[in-house]
Amino acid sequence: MAKTKTQYICQACGSAHTRWQGQCQDCNEWNSITEEVKTDFTIIKTNNKLPPIDMHDLQGIGKDPTRYKSNIGELDRVLGGGLVPGSAVLLGGDPGIGKSTLLLQAIAKLSENHRCAYFSGEESVDQIRIRARRLGFEKAQVELAAISHVERICDFIKSENVEIVVIDSIQTVYVGQIENAPGSVAQVRASAHEIIKAAKANNTALFIVGHVTKDGTLAGPRLLEHMVDAVLYFEGERTHPFRILRGVKNRYATTDEIGVFDMGAEGLQEVLNPSELFLTERQTDTAGSAVFAGMEGTRPVLVEVQALVSPTYLPSPRRSVVGYDNARLSMLLAVLERRLGMRFGGYDVYVNIVGGLRLSEPAADLAVAAALLSAMFDVPLPPQAVFFGELGLSGEVRRVQFAELRLREAHKLGFQQAMTPILKDMEKKQISSLPDALQINSIQSLKNLLDYFPQDKLKSQD
Ligand code: TYD
Ligand code: MG
Repeated sequence: MAKTKTQYICQACGSAHTRWQGQCQDCNEWNSITEEVKTDFTIIKTNNKLPPIDMHDLQGIGKDPTRYKSNIGELDRVLGGGLVPGSAVLLGGDPGIGKSTLLLQAIAKLSENHRCAYFSGEESVDQIRIRARRLGFEKAQVELAAISHVERICDFIKSENVEIVVIDSIQTVYVGQIENAPGSVAQVRASAHEIIKAAKANNTALFIVGHVTKDGTLAGPRLLEHMVDAVLYFEGERTHPFRILRGVKNRYATTDEIGVFDMGAEGLQEVLNPSELFLTERQTDTAGSAVFAGMEGTRPVLVEVQALVSPTYLPSPRRSVVGYDNARLSMLLAVLERRLGMRFGGYDVYVNIVGGLRLSEPAADLAVAAALLSAMFDVPLPPQAVFFGELGLSGEVRRVQFAELRLREAHKLGFQQAMTPILKDMEKKQISSLPDALQINSIQSLKNLLDYFPQDKLKSQD
């Protein structure tokens, strides 16, 4: 028998409490606890003997699972080469960032070869049709319904032979037997559980949309992340056209790939060469700008690092980053102060990664350090140069992976100079096939960077 009682659930972390309180003791979130009705199901013991469990061995699957390809290369790559049948993919992102647009485009393409259904709890059928017409997909064979009742969606999945289903969004669907409002932890958990169970039983692939909250976590529940096979985030500034699709969890592929899109009047366009996009607005003659030859997964990406240094009147100067790690910046500043005698103490320091990209590679150290030095001396860096290399605490520049790919990308985009760590013989051999147009300057230690600034500027720091 099911019995009901009230409990208090934190909407941020999902932990249960016996009474209401202002702050959740588990995740320290304020005002996140709401009352929910708890339904306990007890397993009824019967005397009927259950069938024994079928055990399997590890073999028996082909080399790589078949994948449904959307032919949107940026999406397929982030998924690890396409959508795995029977997998559940959670797509998270701020409201209005383009999740519905991306999935409608994907499913319209997928419907050329697979049976696809789209359930929207947010928009009416006509609203979606209007969007489809604008995107030029009105003829696509997508089955569409504006419905948010989980049981009915599950019935459909179980009885119809659909291969791919979109749920837009998990915060708007609900399970009838649960009294809480859609979007509450209990509803989100139960809905996701039911839908995923139905889909797995039928080998149907699922895309589930989830909105994120202000602080960037998936609304309600991190617990959703555990229930699905892959979690993708769709990121970007709403006022900018660029969007980045990033894998944060994937049971069928690596998670370090990104997909880059450009949101325009005709929906999302793939950006096949992100380096060009990230460098379009670069001003080559300003101080504080350096181009980093980075890697995103398997793909080289050139991106502009900007630094600004301005005198401060605050007792503790400001260190502010966009797209970069604050702790890493503090480390770089400390190394620059200690090894080169630079004094950032009287200055606010800002670092910005252009185009909405987030850099987490240590290989970006050299580019950030170069941008900081350039900002401090107010002298632009050589305009046709790219940088990469990791900095050690003694100011030494360390080798990083994929030197060849980084240099090829730089060469492709017309850069003439690369400031790199000392390359291994093997790497030198690899890049010996590159045309001479790309001059490689080995930077052994931070001190070598000072060669790019006029002597009188250096003196002013002493
Ligand atoms: P949407 O996919 O509805 O966002 P989400 O599902 O993540 O909430 O995207 C809505 C935004 O995208 C809206 O502000 C308008 C913009 N947009 C375009 O710029 N071009 C287009 O072709 C479409 C369909 C949307
Ligand atoms: Mg939407």
